[in-house]
Amino acid sequence: MTFDGTDFYAALIHELKNDLGVLSMALGGIPLRGEAAHDAAVDSARLLCQGMVDRLHQALLIYKADHQPIHPVLDACSPHDLVQAIAASAHALARDRLHVETAIAADTPVLWFFDRELVEMALVNAIHNALAHARSSIRIEAGMDAGCLALRVRDDSPGYPESLLESVADGRPYAATGTGLGLRFARLIAHSHDNRGRRGELRLGNDPGAVFSLLLP
Ligand SMILES: Nc1ncnc2c1ncn2[C@@H]1O[C@H](COP(=O)(O)OP(=O)(O)O)[C@@H](O)[C@H]1O
Ligand SMILES: [Mg+2]
Repeated sequence: MTFDGTDFYAALIHELKNDLGVLSMALGGIPLRGEAAHDAAVDSARLLCQGMVDRLHQALLIYKADHQPIHPVLDACSPHDLVQAIAASAHALARDRLHVETAIAADTPVLWFFDRELVEMALVNAIHNALAHARSSIRIEAGMDAGCLALRVRDDSPGYPESLLESVADGRPYAATGTGLGLRFARLIAHSHDNRGRRGELRLGNDPGAVFSLLLP
C-alpha cells in the first residue's frame, strides 16, 4: 500500500476500528452485577464503543465509494439466517433493556441474491438507531414486497422526524443528531444492488414508531 495522505487516513481508521472492536469485545465480557449504577455504565460504554466500530466501518466504505462505486458481491444468502444474526446482535447490544423479536413472513424465500456483509452493516446501523430511540421493543422482519426482498427494522420510538422523512423523499441532505452517515450509507447500499435494471431502495416511514426498510430486487 502506498502511503499518500488519504491512504494513511484510511489505514488509520482501519486500525482504530480494529482496536475499538477488541475493546468492545472486552467490555462485552464484563459480567452484570445486578447493580443499576454499575450495569448501566458498562452497558452504555459497550453500546458507545460498538457504535464507534460500526461508524468507522461505514466511514471506510463511504470513503472507498467516493473513489469507485460500491460493487456488491451478490451471493445466494438466506434471509432467515440474516434475520437471526441481526437479532443476535440486537440482543447482545440491548441485553435486558429492550425486547427484541423477529417475524419472518411465510413468503420469504429460502435464498436471495445480495451482498450479505453490506446488507448486514446497513441493518446493524438501523439496530443502533433503534436502540437509541426505541421505548421498549425492536422487531426485525423479512418478507416480500412487490417482487423485492424486504428487510425491516421496526421500533416503538416516536418515529423519524417529519423533516427527515421529507428530506429523504426529495433526496436532500437531512439534519441528524449524529453524522447522518448511517441512513446515507443504507441508501447507498440499497442502490448498489440491482437486478436487471431494477435498483434496491431504502424506505423510511413511521407506523407509528420508526420503520426502516431495505428493498432488494
Ligand atoms: N429509529 C429511529 N427513531 C427515531 N429517529 C431516528 C431513528 N433512526 C434514526 N433517527 C433519526 O435519523 C437521524 C439520522 O440517522 P443516521 O443517519 O443513522 O445518523 P446518526 O445516527 O448518526 O444521527 C438521527 O439523527 C435521528 O434523528
Ligand atoms: Mg445512526
